[in-house]
Amino acid sequence: VIDIVTDPALQFAQELALWRGPKAKETPQTQAAHRLAAAHAIAAQARLVPGAAAVPDWLHRLIDAARSEQMPPDLTAAFAGLDLTDSDVPAIWQSFLRLRPLAEPAASLMLRDSDSRLDLDPVSGLNRYGCGPLPQSELVSFSSSTATTISPDGLRAAELLRQRLISAACDASLAAAEIKRDILAAMGLNDLAGLVPVLASSGTTATLLATHIGLRGDGPVQVLLLGPEETGSGVPHVAAVRHPAPRSPTGAVVVEGQPIRGMPSDRLQVEGVPIRDADGLPLTSAVVAEGLAVRIETARAAGKRVVLHVLEGSKTGLVTPGLKAVLALRQRFPQGLDVIVDACQMRARPSDLRRYLDAGCLVVATGSKFMAGPAFCGLLLIPAALAEAVPPLPEGLADYSWRGDWPEDWERVCATLPRSANPGLLLRWRAALVEMTAFAQLAPEAIADALSRFAQALRDAIGEDGDLRLLPGNPAGGSIHTLAVAAPAGGWMDMAALRVVYTELARNRCLIGQPVACAPGHAGLRISASAPLIRAMVHGHGPEAELRMVIGKVRAIVRELVGV
Ligand SMILES: Cc1ncc(COP(=O)(O)O)c(C=O)c1O
Repeated sequence: VIDIVTDPALQFAQELALWRGPKAKETPQTQAAHRLAAAHAIAAQARLVPGAAAVPDWLHRLIDAARSEQMPPDLTAAFAGLDLTDSDVPAIWQSFLRLRPLAEPAASLMLRDSDSRLDLDPVSGLNRYGCGPLPQSELVSFSSSTATTISPDGLRAAELLRQRLISAACDASLAAAEIKRDILAAMGLNDLAGLVPVLASSGTTATLLATHIGLRGDGPVQVLLLGPEETGSGVPHVAAVRHPAPRSPTGAVVVEGQPIRGMPSDRLQVEGVPIRDADGLPLTSAVVAEGLAVRIETARAAGKRVVLHVLEGSKTGLVTPGLKAVLALRQRFPQGLDVIVDACQMRARPSDLRRYLDAGCLVVATGSKFMAGPAFCGLLLIPAALAEAVPPLPEGLADYSWRGDWPEDWERVCATLPRSANPGLLLRWRAALVEMTAFAQLAPEAIADALSRFAQALRDAIGEDGDLRLLPGNPAGGSIHTLAVAAPAGGWMDMAALRVVYTELARNRCLIGQPVACAPGHAGLRISASAPLIRAMVHGHGPEAELRMVIGKVRAIVRELVGV
């Protein structure tokens, strides 16, 4: 089902068969609407796979009509052979508009309803992370800390879901319910009573929805954001209930950094809390936790509620202050403290996430980093203890969330959400779940063993030359490794220089994580193991050769930069 058919007439026939289904009886009006839907899919695919075979004239007319935003005045001319009159046209157009949300191949549908970070460059056909919308077999990919390209199995699962939705074998709310059930099963959380999963268009959106819950009531709120430079770049904005980008997931044009409509940006204050010292070394859990306790105490004494964002896997893989410290803080401050656990990298142990949830913490996660699903699929987990306390969503969140993301019977909370389902997100999650479900079958010891072999293979590839070094504080047993690169003129490369190396690597079909700055003077490139990579290792495919190739390319790019 995912063969990319490049003959437009053949693709048209296949799409038409999907819409027609097994029901043989069609009126000329439904046939016409189905033709428009099929033509719309061809237009969508042509944007992703340029250079398809020539389009016959009869199909051109249909494609032009399907592409137009307004009902074309001469629509009947596009439906050769159908017994139609001009008076049929408005009804046909209305039927087509109802079909249109699913009338494109999964690969293009999955680009919808996220944010501008998924936009494809018109020349390269790749998004800003160097990922295309279709599987790319020749790619070397250690980029799961940022984004990865969809796998063939992921695309197949997404396309199958689209076909089920078209055939009405399943509607969007059933698909959302199945996806939530499968996510919880893969995370080992399906038996946690009262846990409420909410789908979100990205990890950033999930954090925004969690923040909304943390801001309940009408008093002043102190938001404590651990390591703002080591979480998603939009997270500091959404922690302050401000727009993280100039376009919202529903496509609304907004002003980045401005307050989101109806959200109480004026009664909250955000403070970033450092997680590393001046030398870039991670602060210990005890030091971070004590700093947090002092801040929470001060805020509470001033009559403020506190929303605390902790990291269960930062951009560089740091976990801080960690489960034990968070549980202790919750015991020490049983009132007026909400904790949002940033597990967006999805590198946390499921048993730890369960304990956070048991303790009443909100958890945000994604299927698109470690799990290597397509960017972006986000998730908010609301613990039973908070489910009843979720306040009605303000109007501004209608630019970020869909009714179907939330539980079906949460009308009280979701009355402001006019949009029902987000098919792009459902398909992205379906694709991510292929890997998540397979990864969940691996034994923890096998995962730990693969991770330590990965780390050793990376150290071996780097060798002893001294021009590359792993930044201190790389979490032991972690899956993200941050690599400083010596600058040819002395010292270590800064973010600007690292971006050049990162971009050159991507041009050479080697994807790694975007550069990060952990502390002033401590920037690095990230090389990460993903769930599929670990699975491949468990099945005997080592990453050694590819790691040597990436490290070799980094060195070659640096040499080229100085003209050696
Ligand atoms: C630790 C962490 N939190 C949150 C996010 C935001 O997730 P998303 O990119 O899906 O919006 C990221 C993204 O890199 C991240 O690394």
